[in-house]
Parts: sequence; structure tokens; C-alpha cells
Amino acid sequence: MTSTATSPATTSIRPSAHFTARRSWLNDPNGLLFHDGVYHLFFQTNPSGSTWGNISWGHATSTDLVTWTERDIAIPHTEDEMAFSGSAVVDAHNTAGFAGPGETALVAIYTAAAHPGSGRTTQAQSLAFSVDAGETWTRYAGNPVLDIGSSEFRDPKVFWYGGDDGHWVMAVVAATEHRVLFYTSPDLISWTKTSQFGPAHATGGVWECPDLFPLTVAETGETRWVLIVSLNPGGIAGGSGTQYFLGDFDGTTFTPERIVESDDLADFDWVDYGHDYYAAVSFANVPDGRRLMVGWASNWLYAEETPTGPWRSAMSLVREMSLVRRADGRLALAQAPVLPAAPSMLRAHRFSAPRGGGRTTASLSNASGEEFVVTVDADARVIACDRGASGDTGFHAEFRAVARAPLPAGVGDVELLIVADGTVVEVFAAGGTVCLTEQVFPSAPYNRFEVRHTAE
Ligand code: FRU
Repeated sequence: MTSTATSPATTSIRPSAHFTARRSWLNDPNGLLFHDGVYHLFFQTNPSGSTWGNISWGHATSTDLVTWTERDIAIPHTEDEMAFSGSAVVDAHNTAGFAGPGETALVAIYTAAAHPGSGRTTQAQSLAFSVDAGETWTRYAGNPVLDIGSSEFRDPKVFWYGGDDGHWVMAVVAATEHRVLFYTSPDLISWTKTSQFGPAHATGGVWECPDLFPLTVAETGETRWVLIVSLNPGGIAGGSGTQYFLGDFDGTTFTPERIVESDDLADFDWVDYGHDYYAAVSFANVPDGRRLMVGWASNWLYAEETPTGPWRSAMSLVREMSLVRRADGRLALAQAPVLPAAPSMLRAHRFSAPRGGGRTTASLSNASGEEFVVTVDADARVIACDRGASGDTGFHAEFRAVARAPLPAGVGDVELLIVADGTVVEVFAAGGTVCLTEQVFPSAPYNRFEVRHTAE
């Protein structure tokens, strides 16, 4: 157990627009859902501690995606099971039959992970539902609804495919096999396996927290399905990382359009190149077809040792995802953070790193000389984030490592947006096609920002 009582980073640098649990541990975002004007963010939490354990679904709500109110625990752990990651849907047609007359059921699909004390190790998919717009949740009496006898079977992402005669689809991982399994169901209760995808691309760790959704290129109308796969360890920056595949999905099977045989992780597509962006999944039911995503801004390498308390870990900002054709001709994800409309502790800095020789260095710092440095070489097409002198870095040997990302060929001057908010810095480059998320633990917030161009 790590002691955090005397840490400098307890309250003064708690982020404002990045969600943190009031006084407990937090990992993956779960069950992201918009319903009746309210965004719901559930999250993996330990209700009685600031390290991983007793895993339950915490709950927070927001109407603007930057101000969050923590609610009561939605799905508590029991003596037998912990409530691991999963998703939530609005069961508009009452396919599962949980809603009474005049009611709408929200249904959470989570992994019931046998509690270590139970003598079992199984991970199976279970349901809980709410008929009061997410205030209170009831476990389904017929749980689990999908049990294949595996201890590495988790993180169901469920969505409706097709119109009124469509069906539910579940993407769920066989974690140690590096596979996403696809199931379909008419009612969220009985599930039939239809296909699987993987192993492919990065497989240096377990596959976790899949997501699958379509995006359309605004200018051309081309649509691709995006399959998100988190992996730990084996990510591009070391430890936990989030990769993605573009392809097609016909309601039962995902077909990738580009698989690269390579030993170089940089040849694959990464949602984020920083150390601290994991288990990212998207909101269900968002109006106007917007695809909004949230990741956990930490890394299993050191997540339980970061120097804050009693809260520990934050979510990323909510990011709007789009699909663009990059300067090098490839289709890719582009991400834009949702920022507060009114001034807040969060600081957003926009600037440009020109091509034509030299480098651009941006520095975020405070009066104690603690500094987070972003260096962009627009000619060599590389961007690096250095947190070696950013504040407290001593809690883990690998925390000081530099994160690097390649910029796509054909990009000219590089437009950057750096968002700093308490313990999280998010960097968006080249129209949001390259993102890096890094945690920092300065003794006071960074209140200075400086950009330098060096001819070299
Ligand atoms: C990812 C993960 C999931 C699991 C959850 C447990 O960070 O390991 O696979 O469901 O965390 O808290």
C-alpha cells in the first residue's frame, strides 16, 4: 500500500475538466452513455481505497462534458464478484424486458470477475439495469448472460446494429489470445458468437477494452469502422497503450483494410502516443452522430504509485473523434478535445511549429522551475514530450521516459494545441491526427507558457 498522506500533489493540482473520483482510486471509463440530456460516465473504482481492488462501477454525470458530478456507486462489488469494465445502452425497444409500462431501461453490460476470495477465476458477462435514468441499478437475476468458462474474457462493448429489425452486437476480448470476439443478440440476454478478429499489430500484452463504431469522412462521405483495442503492456510509449484498426463491419464480422507485418510499433495506428491514455471507449447514444471518447489518463506501469491522494488517476478530456484523409493519403483518426467555454484552471495553448529548418520548443512551467517540454521538429516529422523535470518523477523508474510520435509525411507547418489541467497534459498535433497524453505531478500548476524557435 502506498502512503500518500504527505504528498505535495494532493489537492492543489487536482484537474478541473479531467474527471477524478473525489476520494478513491479510478481506472477505466465504463458505460459511457448520453440519455435525456445527461452524459453518464461510469468508472472502475475501489470505493474504499486509492489503489486497485474491490472493483465496482463508480458514476458521474455532466451536461457539458467538462463539469462532472460524482454520484453514488452504480454497481458495487459483492463477496463473489468484482464489476470489471463494460458498456451501457439505452434499450429503446425494451428487448430485454426490464422496463415496465412508460419506463425506459438503461442496461449496463459488465464483466463479472470472480472475487479472488471466492476460490474461482472466471470472467463472464453480466447485466445490470436502471429504470430511473441511471440513478439506481439492479443486477439481472439471470446473470451471467455469457460465460465461456474463461478467466481472460472481458470488457464487453455492446451497440445496436441496423434499424428496427437490427440486433445487438458485443465486441469482447479473449485477452491473452489477443483476439476481439463478436457476438450478436436479439435481447441482450442470449448471445451467439459470430466471428473473431486478431491477433494483429501490437500483441506485446493482453488485449483489453475493445470498441467498434463507424465514422464518415466529412468531405468525401467515405465510411470506415474503427476498432479500438487497448493493450497492456506493449504500448507504443511503453506499458499500456491504445491502438486502432480501420475496416468494414457487416453486423457480424470486422474486416480490416490494412494489416502490416512489422516488428516496429510505429508502423501501427495508435489513438495516442503518450504514456497515459488507456482503455479508451466512446459514448453511446450521442445526438447528431458525434463520436465522443474518453480514455483513462494513466498507465498500469505506475498507476498505483502516482503521488496524489486520496484520489488517484484522472480521465482524459472528452474527445470528439473524426475520420480524415491525412496529408500522406492515409485515412486516420483525428481528435479534438471538448474544452470549457468559460475560463477555468485548465489552460489551452495554440501555436505553430514551422517547417524550413530548426525546431520549436514549447515549455509549460511554474515558479519552482518545474517544466514540461514539447519539442517539434517539423522537418524530421517528430514530436517529443519530456517530463523529466516536470515535478515529482521519483515514484517510478520509468516515469521520466520521453514520449515520441511520428508526424505524417506531407504535413507542412505543424499546428499544435497543448492543454494543461492539473496532473494531465494533452498534446494535439497536425489537426489532432497525432495525440500524446502525459501525467505530471508539479508542486504547483504550470502558470507559464513559452514557445521558442531555434534555427539549427
Ligand atoms: C483495463 C482492465 C480491464 C478490466 C479492468 C479491471 O485497464 O484491466 O481489462 O476490466 O481494467 O479494473
